Amino acid sequence: MNFKKISIKAFGRYVPPRVLTNDELGEMVDTDDEWIYSHTGIRKRHISTGENTSDLCTKAARQALQHAGVAPEDVDIIIVTTSTPDYALPSTACLVQSGLGARKAFAFDISAACAGFIYALSVAEKMLRSPHYRNALVISGDVLSKIVDWSDRKTCVIFGDGSGAVLLSAAESYTDESFLISEDIHSNGDKAMSLFCGYKGVSNPFCAYEPGEGDKFINMDGRAIFDFVTRQIPISVNAALEKAKLGLNDIKLVVPHQANARIVEVVAKRMSCGMDKFALNIERYGNTSAASMPIAICELLETGRISLGSGDKYVLTGFGSGLTWGSLVIAM
Ligand code: UT7
Repeated sequence: MNFKKISIKAFGRYVPPRVLTNDELGEMVDTDDEWIYSHTGIRKRHISTGENTSDLCTKAARQALQHAGVAPEDVDIIIVTTSTPDYALPSTACLVQSGLGARKAFAFDISAACAGFIYALSVAEKMLRSPHYRNALVISGDVLSKIVDWSDRKTCVIFGDGSGAVLLSAAESYTDESFLISEDIHSNGDKAMSLFCGYKGVSNPFCAYEPGEGDKFINMDGRAIFDFVTRQIPISVNAALEKAKLGLNDIKLVVPHQANARIVEVVAKRMSCGMDKFALNIERYGNTSAASMPIAICELLETGRISLGSGDKYVLTGFGSGLTWGSLVIAM
């Protein structure tokens, strides 16, 4: 036996209370509910009115710990995935550690944009194979509203703020069993500029770079990403299933990154399966980046469509800036 049984203990989520509807957006930019819903499947999203990413992540993590009945002092590892850290440094994970009072834990961030939850689950699971760690918190959260250009109708209608967390635990006994059955994870830095925020220019006493107005905001070639992910995600899901020696029929539900309902429809069609195989809640939250998967899972737990400890199998699949993408086959 090489490692202890690693399982999913509990999930948590948090979204800020302020809801922004498509009709309200129609008063801000040249758009309307009909266009937004028909092109994305989104009706509304939650927007921060002051809480930053660490606040959202701390609340989601606290809920996961409460659901699991695990004290913050018993957490060994905290991984936050975010594209909108509170600060360039320290990491958002260290702020969450402080907010939780998880004194024993070590904490760090992972940058993999909307695929962050996929990347971090994989990393945390590998760390829990070590005999030294018992409990790991993986938290994805973003306040995308602070990097969205609110005058650009192509991006401001898509994103929402939110966070989701999961607590993973290693058991006492060695059984070599893990919730993570297989994974298929990729990056393609050649396509980095199809979705970016910020600027590469260096400014110091020896050279001057003046950021432009647009440099502060998300720049996205939405069509290019749409085409890329609708090709790659079916390949990735099938690769993960093949490694798990499972077929789609063995899977209860695919939980995709909630980027655009139309992307999920194309993926479902390319995989020759019905939309009922895919979890979708983008209508109420918009695209909350990597948090979208754990937020969706929390809702599925609340409605009984997912049951923790059941052993039922699910596929998580995500994609985002980097470009990054990947799929996990997991057992609940
Ligand atoms: O999560 C991270 C990864 N990101 C993604 O997954 C994004 C993937 N891409 C998408 O979801 C879609 O490409 C978008 C939702 C971003 C855009 O939908 P689209 O169907 O690809 O529209 P488009 O960009 O091709 O634009 C079509 C037309 C354009 O007008 P013209 O040039 O044809 O006259 C746009 O100006 O739609 C116009 N348009 C809008 N019209 C009304 C774009 N945004 C809007 C809007 N309201 N909000």
